[in-house]
Amino acid sequence: MSDPRAAAKRRAALQAVDLVAPGMVLGLGTGSTVRYAIEEIGQRISRGELKDVVGVPTSRATKRLAEEAGIPLARLNDYPEVDLTIDGADEVDPDRNLIKGHGGALLWEKIVASASRRLVIVVDRSKLVSRLGLTKALPVEVVAFGWRVNQLGLRKLGCDPVLRTGPGGSPFSTDEGHYILDCSFEGGIADPVALEREIKRRPGVVETGLFLGFEPQVIVGED
Ligand code: A5P
Repeated sequence: MSDPRAAAKRRAALQAVDLVAPGMVLGLGTGSTVRYAIEEIGQRISRGELKDVVGVPTSRATKRLAEEAGIPLARLNDYPEVDLTIDGADEVDPDRNLIKGHGGALLWEKIVASASRRLVIVVDRSKLVSRLGLTKALPVEVVAFGWRVNQLGLRKLGCDPVLRTGPGGSPFSTDEGHYILDCSFEGGIADPVALEREIKRRPGVVETGLFLGFEPQVIVGED
């Protein structure tokens, strides 16, 4: 693999797959790093090395990938307790708090993470930060109705919230049909817990990309 960053992502993903045991209910995260894990799990299933695993996807995109890889899938409602979830992240701080959602899947990812006995986060070094929000905006998922009200309200919390758009310039729509406001904080987020509380108080806010207190195992792939 000529791209060192892609190689690092793949290395992290393969280490995570080594934690998967036969019979597990697996949460399947979303993004370019987890993609390697999904492909590897599919290969191990087809070689007969991993039996009776069932995957719970965190996005429609992951569902398609996992189907192509040959992983048997189920809905979270069929398996509301997940043994192990492998997911990526956009930022990881020294306390293993995360920003997620740059792939737009933060809502399902957070629900699946909350249902998981064990959460494994696979990243390359570029995702490690001293403070959340330093390198990436915080995605906030809001209902489409009156989204500008939340844009104004979020701005008052000290950030610059920008409506995410898709190809063609129309608003990006999540798997649940919501919008995302990407909130940039100059100098990062000073108090993520307080910020999460403030944002979640707002009517129409569905979820934030702050993953706090999940205490995941973080696997950092080296170049
Ligand atoms: C998806 O919404 C995100 O939370 C991803 O998990 C995150 O963006 C990591 O993606 P990459 O592995 O592609 O960087």
